[in-house]
Parts: sequence; structure tokens; C-alpha cells
Amino acid sequence: MPESFPPGFLWGAATAAYQIEGAVREGGRTPSIWDTFSHTPGKVLGGDTGDDAVEHYHRRSQDVRLMADLDLTAYRFSVSWSRVQPTGRGPGVQRGLDFYRGLVDELLEQGISPSLTLYHWDLPQELETSGGWPERDTAYRFAEYAQIVAEALGDRVEMWTTLNEPWCSAFLGYGSGVHAPGRTDPVAALRAAHHLNLGHGLAVQALRAALPARARLGVSLNPSAVRPLSASPEDADAQRRIDALANRVFTGPMLKGAYPADLLADTAHLTDWSFVQDGDTAAIKQPLDMLGINYYAPAVVSAAPENAAEEGPRNDGHAASEHSPWPGSESVCFHQPPGELTAMEWSVDPSGLYDLLMRYSREVPGTALLITENGAAYDDKPDPEGAVHDPDRIRYLHGHLAAVHRAIEDGADVRGYFLWSLMDNFEWAYGYSKRFGAVYVDYETQARTPKSSARWYAQLARTGELPGIPAG
Ligand code: FCB
Repeated sequence: MPESFPPGFLWGAATAAYQIEGAVREGGRTPSIWDTFSHTPGKVLGGDTGDDAVEHYHRRSQDVRLMADLDLTAYRFSVSWSRVQPTGRGPGVQRGLDFYRGLVDELLEQGISPSLTLYHWDLPQELETSGGWPERDTAYRFAEYAQIVAEALGDRVEMWTTLNEPWCSAFLGYGSGVHAPGRTDPVAALRAAHHLNLGHGLAVQALRAALPARARLGVSLNPSAVRPLSASPEDADAQRRIDALANRVFTGPMLKGAYPADLLADTAHLTDWSFVQDGDTAAIKQPLDMLGINYYAPAVVSAAPENAAEEGPRNDGHAASEHSPWPGSESVCFHQPPGELTAMEWSVDPSGLYDLLMRYSREVPGTALLITENGAAYDDKPDPEGAVHDPDRIRYLHGHLAAVHRAIEDGADVRGYFLWSLMDNFEWAYGYSKRFGAVYVDYETQARTPKSSARWYAQLARTGELPGIPAG
């Protein structure tokens, strides 16, 4: 029996503005923290920047045709904040908004549902200069920006996501410093997490007020499927700590209206959390129509350093640094599980995705789940004929989609899947060295070539039935 997905299940691909657009100085756009960071020597592998990225800003129509050719029914993209509201303050800029309006119109003409993410890590630099996410004002600025975008695109976009992976924004951006803005201050990271949560809650309120009733709102988290290395109580405690800092720091206030008591206790030597003001958690807990889950690999943790195998993977995917992205839990060790690895050295383990889908089905019954990112990097290369065969990616996708299918059979309300990524692009601190695309991009010519995984995925999108793994 072929594994069939429910009718209307969304088959999408995902991208993010800074990773694909380029044109960083066009149309009135001002720098974001990723422009500043990527231009700081030593921060991004090979000194790569998103200045040109894959020129999506100028190749938008071609890229939408490509999506149509691949039979996608949905496309997840993010809006560059400093393109539509340069400097992060004041009125929206029509030229910036028009770029996204044009994109959405082209998608709708092709029958592709747009899914818009407001924030995929590119804070306007001026807001960072004023203090960034550790400061409360940034949350209010974010809600104002959300309103600008909602007023411009609310008549034609139904799916709205506030934040992408706030864990990365807070803990890689302000804790380990491997992401923009590159600060290494554990208290700033915790403050950033709270103000991202607050920004989410205020933005949802602004979106509800500005959007028609049919709009569906959510957030995309990268919850960690965190497992203990052994059955010891110490390793169970390591798991609990990382679950608090990776997952419950966001789902606590967003879904339950409170920060978990164990998180506050684990970090009490760093901060008293007095930056959480009266009424904040009530403002953060807004009803959501969907919860977006981004998943790549599970994490295996232990308590004692002497057990330590090696660094990562931490599901953060980014270069190790001497600063920890886990404030107050720096002693927890991360272990490489045995088995197959992707080019990121992330382990291939679809059971983590299954576990997360079942967990959030239980924790937020009645909220639809979307897989807003899943995929893998491999060292893809064109063959002499120019074709790009990526059997490893097909196997990765097959395994993870089978896990999604199993979760649906077991009762999870999963409405769609967005492959990361539509095409090869700027992979943050790794620059252009890691290829996640279903479509190969030749960075010299910017030519796009669908890999064999793209054709495989197109068949799935067309039929709703999981294709087998091609022989050979
Ligand atoms: C996620 C990011 C996405 C991409 C993938 C590989 O953490 O949201 O932009 O970098 O990892």
C-alpha cells in the first residue's frame, strides 16, 4: 500500500530573505545585522556574504516558474524587515512592499499558496545599534513592522508566521555569537529570548487586528528532540535542562502563558528575570492556528564532562565556539549519535521528527502542525552532462516523510511539509559551502538545475503518495 497523505496537504519549499535575495543595497533597503556580521572578517566561512546571494530579488519570476514546474502547492518565504521598513522605524516603503506583493501575485497565479514569515533573523542594524533583542523596545518595533506588512499583503496572504527559530536568534545571536549580531553574553541571550517571545505575542495581536478572519497565524520553532545518553538520573537532568532552554523557554510563555519554574531556577545565578514585566506572559500567550516545526536532527546529551564524546550536533548547525548557547547549563555535553551523517555532520534520524509531532499534538491539541523546515545538506555536484543526482537527499526526505505519515496515522494533525530549501543558498555562518537545495545553483552563472530529489519531490506533490527510493 503506498503511503498517501491527506487531500489538501501542502507540499512546499522554504527559503529566507537574506539567504536568497541579494540586492542588499537596492530599493531603499538598509543593512540588517546579517549584512554587518557577514562583512566582519572571520564570522562567515570563506568571507562569504549575502550581497548577491542567489539573486532572487532579480530572478523572482524565474524562481516562481521553477516552483510551478516542480508542482509545489505552497512556498514559504521571509520578508526582509529593512527592505520594507528601512532602519526598523517609521512608515513602510512602497518599493520594498511591492517586491513581496509581486512575488505573492506570481505565486497565486500559479496556484501556489504563499506562507509569509516576518522574521528570519535579519534585524535592521539600527535596531541592534539601539540594543537589539535584549531590549524591550525591539518587541514593540517588531509589532509595528508586522502591522505594516499585514496592511500591505493581508488581502492576499493567508498563512503568517511571526518568528523563525527564535532559539537561534537569542542563543546563537547573543549567547554563542556564531550568528549575527555575534554577541556572547548569556544574560543578553535570555533577555533576547523574552523579548522575542513578547514580540511574537504583540505581533500576533497586531496581525489579528489588521488581517481578515481567514488568516492563519503561527510561529516556527526548532524544538529539540533531546535524548539522554544513558538512563542515569544525571543524564535525565541534562535532558530536562536542555529541553527547558531549547523548547520550553518558548512554548512555555507562547502556549501555556508562563515560563517554566525549572528554567528560572537553572538560570537564577545569572538573572532574576525581572525584565519580564507584569502582563507580559499574558500578552505572549495568543491563540495560534498553527505551530511550525523545523527539524533536522535529534540531540543526545549527558551531564558529566568525562562522558563527553565530541561537540554537537546541537541542532544549531553552526560552527563550535568557546561560548555556550546554553546559559546556566554549560556543563551539559552533546554527543554525536552513531550512524549516518549529512554534510553538516548532523545525524539522520527521522524518529526525532515523529517524536516532536506526537509531543506537540499532545501539548497543543486543536492547533494544526506544519513542518516548516526539514531537509539536508550534501556535497552535490553536477555530472559531466550537467545533471545533479542526490540519492542521499532522496533517502533523507523519504525517511522523514515516512515518519510524518506515521505521525498522521497516529493522530497528529499535520497539514503540510516545507522542504528546506527550494534551492542552494547562503547557509549563514557556513556561507555557500553547504548545499541544502532541491535545486542546484551554479554560483558563477546563477543557473538553476533541479536535482533528482526535486523531481522525486514533485512526484509526491503531484500524487500525494510517497514515491519509493529509486534504485541505483
Ligand atoms: C535552520 C534555518 C534555515 C537554514 C536551515 C539549514 O536553522 O532556519 O535558515 O539555515 O537551518
